[in-house]
Amino acid sequence: MKKQFAVIGVALLGFASVSAHADGAAVYNSGCMACHTTGVAGSPKIGDKEAWVERIAQGMDLLYEHAIVGFQGKTGFMPPKGGFAHLSDDDVKLAVDHMVEQSQ
Ligand code: HEC
Repeated sequence: MKKQFAVIGVALLGFASVSAHADGAAVYNSGCMACHTTGVAGSPKIGDKEAWVERIAQGMDLLYEHAIVGFQGKTGFMPPKGGFAHLSDDDVKLAVDHMVEQSQ
């Protein structure tokens, strides 16, 4: 019996952590992926740890700012909010969180 409860508990925990990040993933999948999945136009590819390590080292606040207001870097141009003006600042931050989580 105890064992069954433990299994259910782990399953619930897993579900909770997935849903907590679902929004960031959804925002990412609805737009940011157009460039960041394949690295179009010099964008750092999601999951490419090397491409992200120095960016992450700048701190999350700067990453959020660059994603929201846009950013001309060494490899290309990140348009403000990726060009998706309808996204709220919070949506963009969630997507950045998602990208960073997948890339470290
Ligand atoms: C049109 C292509 C394009 C789209 C769409 C796009 N990006 Fe980017 N992004 C770039 C490029 C290019 C860079 C790299 C700029 C550089 O470092 O030279 C970049 C860099 C970044 C960085 C790193 C900034 C830094 O300080 O190093 C973050 C974070 C980021 N994008 C988040 C996002 C998010 C979130 C979205 C979706 C809302 C998004 N991007 C959509 C092209 C894009």
